[in-house]
Amino acid sequence: KIIVLDFGSQYNQLITRRLRDFGIYSELLPHDLSMDKIKEIAPKGIIFSGGPNSVYGEGALRVDPAIYDLGIPILGICYGMQLMAHDLDGKVEPADNSEYGRADIEVTAEDSPLVKGLPKDQYVWMSHGDLVTELPAGFKLAAKSANCPISIMENRERGLYGIQFHAEVRNSQYGLDILKNFAFNVCHAEANWTMDDFIEMQVAEIQKEVGDKKVILGLSGGVDSSVTATLLHKAIGNQLTAIFVDHGMLRKDEGDQVMAALNRDLGVNIIRVNAQERFLSKLAGVTDPEKKRKIIGREFVEVFNEEAQKLKDVDFLAQGTLYTDVIESGTNTAQTIKSHHNVGGLPKDMHFKLIEPLRKLFKDEVRELGEKLGIPHDLVWRQPFPGPGLGIRVLGEITEDKLQIVRESDAILREEIKNAGLQEDIWQYFTVLTGIRSVGVMGDGRTYDYTVGVRAVTSIDGMTADFAQIPWPVLSKISTRIVDEVDHVNRVVYDITSKPPATIEWE
Ligand code: XMP
Repeated sequence: KIIVLDFGSQYNQLITRRLRDFGIYSELLPHDLSMDKIKEIAPKGIIFSGGPNSVYGEGALRVDPAIYDLGIPILGICYGMQLMAHDLDGKVEPADNSEYGRADIEVTAEDSPLVKGLPKDQYVWMSHGDLVTELPAGFKLAAKSANCPISIMENRERGLYGIQFHAEVRNSQYGLDILKNFAFNVCHAEANWTMDDFIEMQVAEIQKEVGDKKVILGLSGGVDSSVTATLLHKAIGNQLTAIFVDHGMLRKDEGDQVMAALNRDLGVNIIRVNAQERFLSKLAGVTDPEKKRKIIGREFVEVFNEEAQKLKDVDFLAQGTLYTDVIESGTNTAQTIKSHHNVGGLPKDMHFKLIEPLRKLFKDEVRELGEKLGIPHDLVWRQPFPGPGLGIRVLGEITEDKLQIVRESDAILREEIKNAGLQEDIWQYFTVLTGIRSVGVMGDGRTYDYTVGVRAVTSIDGMTADFAQIPWPVLSKISTRIVDEVDHVNRVVYDITSKPPATIEWE
């Protein structure tokens, strides 16, 4: 196995995920892991992730320098490279120009094991404010770029390597090859890990943890919670009860459809709770997105508490939390981007112990897992839908009238995407009710009404996304139908931002 030490990059789990794709077991571990622990794990290689800090800034995250003498190959990525350079007496300085985005690098040591067999000129994804300006003793330059004279550094004898760019994101042309080279050519890791191993490991872990206790699970009808339900069902059978909460912010007809599909397909016990009133009354008058998310997260747990009391002796709450939810909600090392309802939105004083078997996985891995577990194709490929539902698609205060506008416009969008045969090409598509009102003319009269935003993105794992290039005629039909058929909408706009810098949802 190869371990990744966490210095707080939004991309750190993506590194472990790439290694899993290569068939190598990998885990993300804290940066201050003790040397004894590392020796016990005996990894074939270590990767330092990137991170938001500066090595000479206050609160910079460090490692025990003894790590460089363990004789285990190390690859430092971005901050990880800077830390290595700093620790080994190279020099790190603020860049004259911070670099965010694509950069062209030139390989200067073509026989370097990291880039062997790859083209001399390639583009990579940079995202940094500092850079290494002087190599540590014993290191050689292996690649450079115009703004970053030391893009790759290496000390082959000691097995220490640093890359300033993010090889783990798809925007680096040969990034995956570089990681592969590190794993196989430098670390000599073996490719012998599969999704079946993951299922086996999780089932065993769940059985051990749960024993003969009961578990409830928040089921939304989306792929994450459905896969979690199936995995738990496989492990503990009827000790599991799924709770489907209708919080009043579901899409049109969704509640009935989900119940029908899940009862039939999963064979899991499901209880439906109609909790529309209580959610909406708690949310009345609240406009701040983070507050909304926290209220929704708390209310979910309240409902689960009540249901657990009825069932008696429930110790565990299972959730289909994914890595994306975890990292965006903020961790000890990473910043909070938004509090996903099932992570940052959870109350601190919760009585359940959490079971989250998908916590380290990305959406596309969960889909692969779902297929392996035999969940029907349609369910596995449903577009993602966030737990807080339409609550984060009505910008600002949520009211029933506004929800109605989103529900109706979203239904039209979905229908037209389906008519155009695009539903499998677009990763996620929905409408949002912006807070904007503007002037229009309908018939011969003036209107002053709402603007609906259409959002449609392509993505693989939800970490990065591009806006989908829906053909104009389809967009035109969507826009016309929304304005014609949904009351109080006189304008439709199409969101043409990628993630980053935007996020997929608007709140
Ligand atoms: P963002 O908007 O952060 O979304 O780019 C990434 C993916 O996560 C979904 N999302 C959520 N899912 N609870 C969830 O279960 C949440 O609070 C939440 N917020 C965003 C979003 O729909 C997208 O698929």
